[in-house]
Amino acid sequence: MQTLKVAIAGFGGVGRATAELLLQRRDRYRQVYGVDVRLVAVCGSRAGLADANGLQAGQLAALQPGLTGPAFIAASGASVLIEAGPSDFRSGGPGLAYLREALAAGQDCIVISKGALVHSGPQLRELARASGAMLKLSGAAAAALPTLDLLQHSLAGCQVLAVEGILNATTNYLLDAMRTQGLGFDAALREAQAGGFAEADTRNDTEGWDTACKLLLLANFGLGADLTMEDVDVEGIHAVTAQRIDSWAKQGLVPRLVGRLERVNGTLRASVGIKTYPLSDPFAQVNGKNKAIRLSSDAMGETIAIGCGVEPLATAAAALKDLEHILQARAARPALSKDHPA
Ligand code: HSE
Repeated sequence: MQTLKVAIAGFGGVGRATAELLLQRRDRYRQVYGVDVRLVAVCGSRAGLADANGLQAGQLAALQPGLTGPAFIAASGASVLIEAGPSDFRSGGPGLAYLREALAAGQDCIVISKGALVHSGPQLRELARASGAMLKLSGAAAAALPTLDLLQHSLAGCQVLAVEGILNATTNYLLDAMRTQGLGFDAALREAQAGGFAEADTRNDTEGWDTACKLLLLANFGLGADLTMEDVDVEGIHAVTAQRIDSWAKQGLVPRLVGRLERVNGTLRASVGIKTYPLSDPFAQVNGKNKAIRLSSDAMGETIAIGCGVEPLATAAAALKDLEHILQARAARPALSKDHPA
């Protein structure tokens, strides 16, 4: 049986959930793909807690505490890196260093954190192309909501004319709580934090940056664009008042924070802002922490997906969906598999 060695960089809630789910699915990988998927290394400030979180060291072929960055990539001996660490979209770090190293070495990468991809997406895409590595990012691009799958596979061959997405759970939850429960902005935000889906710095959610990051990934990785954050017109929800919510409600309108991509005279325009929808629009029904995407294409008309899941499991599952695609691609071209029979 072939083996596939996997390393995880970043061992917070999502990294641990991904490790646990991967270990649970090892039998499936053997049965479906005939591949022994081995988690060989994890790193992160909390990697030493692996045992305390139900991951027994014995399940890891080699747990390597203390190694980080390029040294970790080289020492892991893995063929697939799952990048789940914190990363800042303004600097790309620290995930960027891991991804550059791994892609340059030809390791397939499954990326969960958005920062490096937003900061240096086209460069990472090029590194992957040059080394023949696969670069996958379902976990970073709205996770449980299918987004890139639709753009890259379901609408393959069509020209996508517009993309509209409720891509951030926190702001959707917050606007709904203000509208349906009469909560104030701060109280609603505290509920989103308690729910565990708000960012550590909630301004990333409320000022629209998280939506903008996901939108940029859809543009650059789903539509082949080369946009930067400077190309995205970003407006958040932080100035929304109870009075404005009331006024929309009286007009039968539901506010959502949406990211939009539109082709205007051949140019892709990207924006994030509040849009209101009549109750008859499917986007008005996307309640609470659900997310949604609506795509318009030349030949397949309008496609809508609505999705959510319990975190961190949903994001872990999105990342391991990417692993399934890597296993399928490797099975389709066995001569290119990088691991050797055990
Ligand atoms: N804070 C994000 C959200 C989750 O509310 O959707 C991570 O992208």
